[in-house]
Amino acid sequence: MCGIFCLLNLSPTHFELHKPFYEHLKRRGPNSSQDLTITNANPYFHCVLSSHVLHMRGRLTPQPVQDRTGNVLVWNGEIFGGLTVMPEQNDTAVVSQRLSSCNSPSEILSVFSSIQGPWGFVYYQKAGDYLWFGRDFFGRRSLLWNIVAQVLILTSVAAHTSGSGQSAWQEVPAVGLYRVDLKAAAESGTVQLEVYPWTQAGNPVSTCIETISKSVPDNCTTLINDTVLSSPVCPLNMSIPETLNEPEIHPNSHLSAKELEEILASKEKKEEVNYLTQVLSEAVRRRVQALPFEFESTSSPNNGHASVAILFSGGIDSMILAALADRHIPARQPIDLLNVAFKLQDPKKQKESARKHKKIHKNKPADLKKDEPASRTSCPFDVPDRITGRAGLKELQDLNPDRRWNFVEINVTQEELQELRHEHICHLVHPLDTVLDDSIGCAVWFAARGTGVIRQDNSLHPFTSSAKVILTGIGADEQLAGYSRHRVRFKTSGHEGLIQELAMELGRISTRNLGRDDRIIADHGKEARFPYLDEDVVSYLNSVPVWDKADLSLPRGVGEKLLLRLMAKHLGLGQSAVLPKRAMQFGSRIAKMEDSHEKASDKCTRLLTG
Ligand SMILES: *[C@@H]1O[C@H](CO)[C@@H](O)[C@H](O)[C@H]1NC(C)=O
Ligand SMILES: *[C@@H]1O[C@H](CO)[C@@H](O)[C@H](O)[C@H]1NC(C)=O
Ligand SMILES: *[C@@H]1O[C@H](CO)[C@@H](O)[C@H](O)[C@H]1NC(C)=O
Ligand SMILES: *[C@@H]1O[C@H](CO)[C@@H](O)[C@H](O)[C@H]1NC(C)=O
Ligand SMILES: *[C@@H]1O[C@H](CO)[C@@H](O)[C@H](O)[C@H]1NC(C)=O
Ligand SMILES: *[C@@H]1O[C@H](CO)[C@@H](O)[C@H](O)[C@H]1NC(C)=O
Repeated sequence: MCGIFCLLNLSPTHFELHKPFYEHLKRRGPNSSQDLTITNANPYFHCVLSSHVLHMRGRLTPQPVQDRTGNVLVWNGEIFGGLTVMPEQNDTAVVSQRLSSCNSPSEILSVFSSIQGPWGFVYYQKAGDYLWFGRDFFGRRSLLWNIVAQVLILTSVAAHTSGSGQSAWQEVPAVGLYRVDLKAAAESGTVQLEVYPWTQAGNPVSTCIETISKSVPDNCTTLINDTVLSSPVCPLNMSIPETLNEPEIHPNSHLSAKELEEILASKEKKEEVNYLTQVLSEAVRRRVQALPFEFESTSSPNNGHASVAILFSGGIDSMILAALADRHIPARQPIDLLNVAFKLQDPKKQKESARKHKKIHKNKPADLKKDEPASRTSCPFDVPDRITGRAGLKELQDLNPDRRWNFVEINVTQEELQELRHEHICHLVHPLDTVLDDSIGCAVWFAARGTGVIRQDNSLHPFTSSAKVILTGIGADEQLAGYSRHRVRFKTSGHEGLIQELAMELGRISTRNLGRDDRIIADHGKEARFPYLDEDVVSYLNSVPVWDKADLSLPRGVGEKLLLRLMAKHLGLGQSAVLPKRAMQFGSRIAKMEDSHEKASDKCTRLLTG
């Protein structure tokens, strides 16, 4: 994981960048920072490429990497498959070598379409003076762009400029690769973007044009080129069951966890469960074993620190990641479970907003509350995710009693939230700007920082996770119909509507979540990894018909993400297999700290700086 940056100036006037920029980039890559400048006299252009490297695996490879021909790469990615990277190699060097041997655009395209894993990059191709850049198919790494006068800037993270004026920063749409002909740009004084979109059946070029036109910087022209850039995943299975939609079997019933477990036990999808377990387990293995070289080679038990942490609510997505990580991480190493909670308001205010938010509690399995001693519920940090997190911890301890599971209780007060949001987090969320971006951005930032307490021998100890890899469960809800809007859609438009919804959601996950979450997590010098968005996992889930992934005629806690719940059982997990989905902003209670009248999609005024 790195902070990458590129400034292309078509005019000889020097361009001064303000400072917060470099600081944000350096936090992403604390281990090595370097710049490299390319200048062309006639026609004039000037290009600064800059990299800030976080050392993750292989040997530390300073960037930008320049090859013998003069091509230059800045790379913010991880290769988990597709191209061979030996344990002692660094993937930056591997990509650079592959690109060095490319002549035609289609050869460059084929290098990038073969890579499995997240990436964002900028590449200066010496022959012909081209600047290439882009993000992986899902947009798992952030890349922003902006054009001011005759300067094009590309960067992993930017800064929010003061005042509430419309910012010119935009996320580079993850629709394909981009190429700029530098000499042509220098001659005309304007940047023309040639776009090579991902090719996938059922994904017409027109959607790509639409997406791009919304976020292309002013004064840029675009040209779509249909040279094939093959999508790294197979298309979504659009089949619809032959039998009619069944009515909801248990409409609105408040079933106990035990009843839900019984319904789940009556379902069987052995073949699909086995296959999903296999691909997801492999996806987790690749993500927990690709660690810094020293880690792997030394036999010493790395002084008791975990090298992998999980964003952990105790919900099914994170429980499955923890259970699978347990299979692949040496038993002597702890695993950090990061659980964030925002302080509950005083009881009076609490009651008021509880009335407004009643719906959220409705479907909570009754048994969960009973497990908690009454004295505990009075603690202001005992938010829903803390309670399910503790229950989840117990399940994991049962699953593997020999493992040290560090359940990190991260408590955040309103004062701390306000201070850090204002000083720092707002810059990382930027250019996203809604109430939901604020809630999730802040919650994930505190969780990923990993500073809290752990319980040992019945007492609390301050603890900071030093794991550089953070697994997150994002992508499970989008693929397996985990959100309540999927139920709404299914009710109104059946399987057909549900399939359309799922296709749309996976298509926009980069703009909704991934760029933001990457900027937020990388800020701690840590790397987010997304096993549910592994290319093989997505391809498998795309190939399975929708009715095998979810059955929304079944009650909440069973029907959504049905296949995943069956898998959780198969892995030996208990009640967490039937926990209904709870969004992070409600589970961590961050949403309750603010004005309860605002809608998630409203622009968030708290993100604006003074
Ligand atoms: C990288 O930087 C981090 C944070 O400064 C430091 O803890 C770590 O030891 C560095 N790693 C290497 C290989 O230099
Ligand atoms: C990066 O990897 C390449 C290929 O394995 C190797 O030749 C090079 O020495 C590595 N760079 C550093 C700084 O170790
Ligand atoms: C776009 O180009 C016009 C004319 O060259 C110029 O006046 C304007 O400032 C440019 N806009 C931006 C955002 O650079
Ligand atoms: C697409 O790119 C290829 C390779 O650069 C080029 O030969 C072809 O003319 C381009 N097509 C269009 C429609 O621009
Ligand atoms: C954090 O919250 C938990 C309750 O979930 C509480 O037991 C613990 O004392 C709190 N720790 C700190 C340091 O406030
Ligand atoms: C979609 O699912 C159906 C039913 O299982 C299967 O027959 C079909 O081959 C699948 N289609 C694709 C493209 O995978």
